[in-house]
Amino acid sequence: MSYSKLPRGYIAKSTVIVVSLGTVAFTAMQFGSGSERFHKEIFMPAMHRYFDGEKTHRLAVAAAKYGLLPLWGRNYYEYPELNTRVWDIDFRNPIGLAAGFDKDAEAVNGLRRSGFGFIEIGSVTPLPQPGNPRPRVFRLYEDQAVINRYGFNSAGVGTVRSRLKSAFRPSDPVPVGVNLGKNKESTDARLDYEICVGQLGPFCDYLVVNVSSPNTPGLRELQKRGDLEKLLATVKSAIDRLEMDEERRPKLLLKVAPDLNAAERKDIATTCMNKKYRVDGLIVSNTTLGRPAELRSEHAGEAGGLSGAPLKETSTECVRDFYRLTKGGMPIIGCGGVASGKDAYEKIRAGASLVQLYTSLVYGGFLFIVWRHCGAGCGSLTSPIMREYSCFSATDSCRFSASTRLSSFRVG
Ligand SMILES: Cc1cc2nc3c(=O)[nH]c(=O)nc-3n(C[C@H](O)[C@H](O)[C@H](O)COP(=O)(O)O)c2cc1C
Repeated sequence: MSYSKLPRGYIAKSTVIVVSLGTVAFTAMQFGSGSERFHKEIFMPAMHRYFDGEKTHRLAVAAAKYGLLPLWGRNYYEYPELNTRVWDIDFRNPIGLAAGFDKDAEAVNGLRRSGFGFIEIGSVTPLPQPGNPRPRVFRLYEDQAVINRYGFNSAGVGTVRSRLKSAFRPSDPVPVGVNLGKNKESTDARLDYEICVGQLGPFCDYLVVNVSSPNTPGLRELQKRGDLEKLLATVKSAIDRLEMDEERRPKLLLKVAPDLNAAERKDIATTCMNKKYRVDGLIVSNTTLGRPAELRSEHAGEAGGLSGAPLKETSTECVRDFYRLTKGGMPIIGCGGVASGKDAYEKIRAGASLVQLYTSLVYGGFLFIVWRHCGAGCGSLTSPIMREYSCFSATDSCRFSASTRLSSFRVG
């Protein structure tokens, strides 16, 4: 048959179909084969081009929920040198997912398989609430940062409880923390936290009293000494009332802002070290209200909490300060601007026992944390952040790991 006998438009249509199928196949292959460059330079920018910050976030949660993140299933390459033990809990590695990604515990099982050493869900409020009006998440590309003013959008404690109840397994190799918040309209913050502890405490390894999100009016005031003491006493007694074995009770952590002044930091450290409240650890830090002069992105003036690269130094300084103020006697989870193994290790060197990240996923995609089993000698295919981190901790002249650091400094 000669070309002239082909139906009109046949060649054009066929070309479109072949090119489209080729593009889909290429994308699937690159996605599936776990090419770091493809994810960072093509896939994530394409997502950002077509979807705003919140839609991309929703899609990522859905991908985690339906098991699309860990591309090659459950076969992880283990780095035994990264195994860490804190609070008598074993972590396969010290790098965890920070609060705010899976606010409503939709994707606990999928996230467990994504390569993180632990995951934190929330913030959860007692009653469901919609949060602030949209748009409320802004990507600051040039600064590798995000500003968010979600304002604790939450499905509420009832929904989260039933999801956690079916997903939580006490001795799972990936521990789960739950971050607690208060309802915007609540007039009794302590009651809000107490309700959440009672409902969610039995289904997690640790609970976080979050008094540092900048998007709920009055929340950060709870970091002030008097209020904090009363709040921690209420939360501790709610934990003590949980009907469960002593060793299974969730640990109590406090998450603080990076914007505290020296006196406020000292007050918080003193309160947390007070045996009366038995706080088990600190998460340092939440997002900042500060806006460094170097920010270049058009969204830099948006209201909300800033996270990512511009927060890195401030939060590391804050970790260092809290480590000093608590005399190394309280495990700290360092959080803020971690985007590489080097960043993670800086937090450890500043005094953290564990590390968390969130914003770097927005730019690097989940791939940079996912790692795959591919046998010995195949290091280039394992997670870049883990590879780099393990490299730093191994070559550091002090040769201390998070767990040895803690055991040598722990007091009481
Ligand atoms: C979009 C977004 C939502 C967040 N939501 C919460 C939250 O609900 N509760 C909370 O304690 N922290 C929340 N955070 C703060 C992070 O947990 C983390 O403390 C902060 O972003 C610093 O880490 P990063 O620079 O690695 O993102 C959120 C952060 C972002 C970017």
